[in-house]
Amino acid sequence: MDSAGPVTVDPLSSMAPDMAAHPQPVYRAMREATPVLAVEGVGVIVSGKAEADEVLRRPDVFSSNVDAVDLKNARPLIPLQIDPPEHKKFRKLLDPLFAPREVARLEGQLTASANELIDAFVDRGEVDFATEFSVPFPTRVFLGLLGLPVEDLPRLLTLKDGIIRPHLVIGETFGSQASLDYQQQTADAIYATFDEMLDQRAVERHDDLLSRFLDATVDGARLSREDILDICFLFLIAGLDTVTASLDCIFAHLATHPEHRRALAEDPSLVPAAVEELLRWETPVMGVVRVAVADTELGGCPVHKDDRVMIMLGSVNTDQADLPDAETVRFDRDVNRHVAFGGGVHRCLGSHLARQELRIAVREWHRRIPEYRVADGHELVYTPAIRSIDHFPMVFTATG
Ligand code: HEM
Repeated sequence: MDSAGPVTVDPLSSMAPDMAAHPQPVYRAMREATPVLAVEGVGVIVSGKAEADEVLRRPDVFSSNVDAVDLKNARPLIPLQIDPPEHKKFRKLLDPLFAPREVARLEGQLTASANELIDAFVDRGEVDFATEFSVPFPTRVFLGLLGLPVEDLPRLLTLKDGIIRPHLVIGETFGSQASLDYQQQTADAIYATFDEMLDQRAVERHDDLLSRFLDATVDGARLSREDILDICFLFLIAGLDTVTASLDCIFAHLATHPEHRRALAEDPSLVPAAVEELLRWETPVMGVVRVAVADTELGGCPVHKDDRVMIMLGSVNTDQADLPDAETVRFDRDVNRHVAFGGGVHRCLGSHLARQELRIAVREWHRRIPEYRVADGHELVYTPAIRSIDHFPMVFTATG
């Protein structure tokens, strides 16, 4: 159906924000130049599938410890910044809470939530997809999981944005002291907010995640208050922006590829395969980071202790060596083993939930709004790293 264009981009431009808009040709250029590239002052960039697999499968050498990503958290985020063997005990506890059976229970609630959001703009024929759908939808799901009222939505969004994009919230440049200070204040506020919620649940349990954390045990022992806070902090960061970005990427693709959009609107049974294929092709989380804990080598490239190693998931997902027609978007693949949710022991805990959210959003949207396009004259701008679109004006024709 659709192919990546010719290779004209210097691999190093992969670090530039413009890459986020059309990353696939850049990934190809990177792979063809070298699957492992050491860049002074940046780290080691891994674009080849075999080498990426090796990094993901060797957490003993390529650690996910707190040096990999600094979000101003006081302690390592659980389970993202915990290495094996300790990592396993947390996943043993958390995996059942996010298993397909648990997630299936949310079908009705998620469907209602998607439709409530659509109700608010369906008669208008135009919408900012980001502000009125892709941002509030996963946040409402998260509020539901935590047992919080929908009125808490702005508060949670402010906390999440204060960590992920503090410079934009306060109108400063990226990495400035003021934005770092704001990020630190936000981190402190996140701990305080969840601490207060946990105090309430300690007095009276609800049917929500926080109450389940309080009662959960790992190897016979309960989680400490700090453990639960370190899990909650991660959920706020990991579970909101990623789904928003995935919705943005999927709907931007469909808005600009009428044949794919019509195929979905005509045959809703394609939705699960389309979601997988667009997760693969778009790879909203472009890469993940590890830190080498010892000198080693990767695909013939020396890697030094303390080097940051960046695994380009989007490149792995579009590597022809792994999938012969990897540069074609197809909704009829029987098997689609992509790494949009990562790989190895840290593979996404929330993948079943995320899939359920994406499938329901795509299904309900196309049932009611089969025809849509980006507003005339507007060029979509993607954020780097996690490819969301902050401003996404859309015009559409609804059926009801
Ligand atoms: C489409 C949406 C999502 C995408 C693309 C995504 C992607 C990812 C990726 C690539 C990783 C691996 C990180 C690494 O290896 O360093 C990851 C880990 C994780 N994700 Fe997601 N994620 C999504 C949704 C969610 C949701 C809804 C949750 C909510 C619970 C969640 C929770 C987590 C957690 C807790 C981890 C850490 C797992 C571990 O370290 O063992 N994610 N995700």
